[in-house]
Amino acid sequence: MQDVQEAYRLIDRELNDMEELARRSLDSVDPFVGDVVRYSFRFGGKRLRPATLFLTAKAVGAVTESHLRTATAVEFIHTASLIHDDILDGASIRRHLDTVNVRWNAQIGVLAGDILLTRALEFMTREEKMYGFRCLTDACRKTCEGELRQIGTIGRFDMTCEEYFDVIAGKTAPLLACSAELGAHYAGADETTTERFRQFGHRLGLAFQVIDDILDLVGEANTAGKTLRTDLINRKPTLPLILYLRDANETDRQDTLTRLRREHLDAEIAEEIATRLHRSGAVEEARNEAGRLIDQAVRSLDVFPTTEAVKALIAIARFVGNRTK
Ligand code: IPE
Ligand code: IPE
Ligand code: MG
Ligand code: MG
Ligand code: MG
Repeated sequence: MQDVQEAYRLIDRELNDMEELARRSLDSVDPFVGDVVRYSFRFGGKRLRPATLFLTAKAVGAVTESHLRTATAVEFIHTASLIHDDILDGASIRRHLDTVNVRWNAQIGVLAGDILLTRALEFMTREEKMYGFRCLTDACRKTCEGELRQIGTIGRFDMTCEEYFDVIAGKTAPLLACSAELGAHYAGADETTTERFRQFGHRLGLAFQVIDDILDLVGEANTAGKTLRTDLINRKPTLPLILYLRDANETDRQDTLTRLRREHLDAEIAEEIATRLHRSGAVEEARNEAGRLIDQAVRSLDVFPTTEAVKALIAIARFVGNRTK
């Protein structure tokens, strides 16, 4: 099986071109604004959405200037969502450095995110047709709705798996779905093919968030390069917790709920609960669920010839299922 490094090697030039385009477009602003925005968009991210977009383009045909601009727009939007998310989650580390809200403050983070978001939309207005603009604005709105819906789930420990998947289908999947869709669209794919790739991105996005939520509970902050253990402290029901509460015996269930409802839910209590979820097998079960989603994502590509680009997309999907960062 092709590994993820090989997959990234296949689009090395395109990713470098994207970094260059992003850097140039962020250079043209006021020095202070430039500092803040460039800091937000620094290296250290996995560039997973541009990688998906470029590889999808290669799976269908050739990478064009439209792909380059769209990949930059997608990564700007993703970065904006992270800056805002870190304010919402009270996180202090992102991509191995202080978050914008810690290095400066939340006000600056709000505006830096807005600048990246509007830059992204400006990029999309350069395309002749509105297709990409519509696709990206739709993904943006769904991401915000998903984040907002998640806030509405805080402390709701009776949340079902279905509701959880609904929230992450809004919060995380749309941008990955859109990356694959636009990769195919700008390479000249027909509607059916574009829809297939979109489905791949959607399933990949769901699995991506399930793994992210597992990492938040049991991952290594140094490896992930970001603040972990925020979900329990913020009383957010994620898949491992939902599965645990669904399957635990009544005594364990009530005991865990009491801890979760304590006025001062600190890191120590969160760690105890995380250990409980791990030992019970709920984390493993959530991992299996992510594995099933990855299998489904890979199956979306079954209809295509297994070219290098398709193999690379499969390698990316497998990486997402096993990632530690
Ligand atoms: C983190 O995304 C936020 C989620 C959608 C869960 P990534 O893990 O792709 O972040 P970077 O871009 O690699 O830093
Ligand atoms: C955020 O989810 C997803 C976004 C769409 C930004 P998380 O809050 O779990 O992301 P991390 O763990 O901070 O990267
Ligand atoms: Mg977060
Ligand atoms: Mg969050
Ligand atoms: Mg997370």
